[in-house]
Amino acid sequence: MGKKKIAVLVGSLRKESFNKKLANEMIAMAPESLEMELVEIGQLMHYNEDLDQNPPAEWVEFRKKIKEADGYLFFTPEYNRSISGVLKNALDVASRPYGQNNWAGKPGAIVSSSISPLGAEAANHALRQPMVFLNVYMMQQPEAYIGNTMSLFGEDGKLQNEDTKAHLQSYLQAFEAWANRF
Ligand SMILES: Cc1cc2nc3c(=O)[nH]c(=O)nc-3n(C[C@H](O)[C@H](O)[C@H](O)COP(=O)(O)O)c2cc1C
Repeated sequence: MGKKKIAVLVGSLRKESFNKKLANEMIAMAPESLEMELVEIGQLMHYNEDLDQNPPAEWVEFRKKIKEADGYLFFTPEYNRSISGVLKNALDVASRPYGQNNWAGKPGAIVSSSISPLGAEAANHALRQPMVFLNVYMMQQPEAYIGNTMSLFGEDGKLQNEDTKAHLQSYLQAFEAWANRF
């Protein structure tokens, strides 16, 4: 069986984003059966149904990447007890034009992280809600809420906390098994 293509989406555009750092750590841990690729979302124009008459090239390219992926791994920060606008916009862009939901029928999973000890729990669950309508099959267990992100990385930007590393590793193993069920 070929490798499963996993699109990795990060809901923060910050250069020093902890979510992006966590995503890169997990991409580096990718198991044999998963090909994990970061898919950028910051370039996507705000979704506006009028533009679907002649969609921007960035939308077309992004929709193609989402359609071609075999699964999705999301990394979300928490903005005001929900997901960031940029991540919601990406979900909306690839869900259209009407009747062409590019996310549908694929497996997905969420890692949420925050500088607070709560690990962006509210955003993690807020992201699960649109997944119902987008028809992405979300892994339920295990869950990944990464809190206190400011204390987890070294000066080189690499994850130093061994417990978090082990947690991410076992989460990825579970996601590999989940993705390979489809
Ligand atoms: C607009 C905004 C709203 C935020 N709201 C929350 C929040 O509701 N809960 C929380 O835990 N952190 C909140 N934060 C802090 C973020 O969790 C923190 O900035 C985090 O590091 C963002 O992820 P990043 O490092 O990947 O950019 C907020 C940050 C911003 C910029």
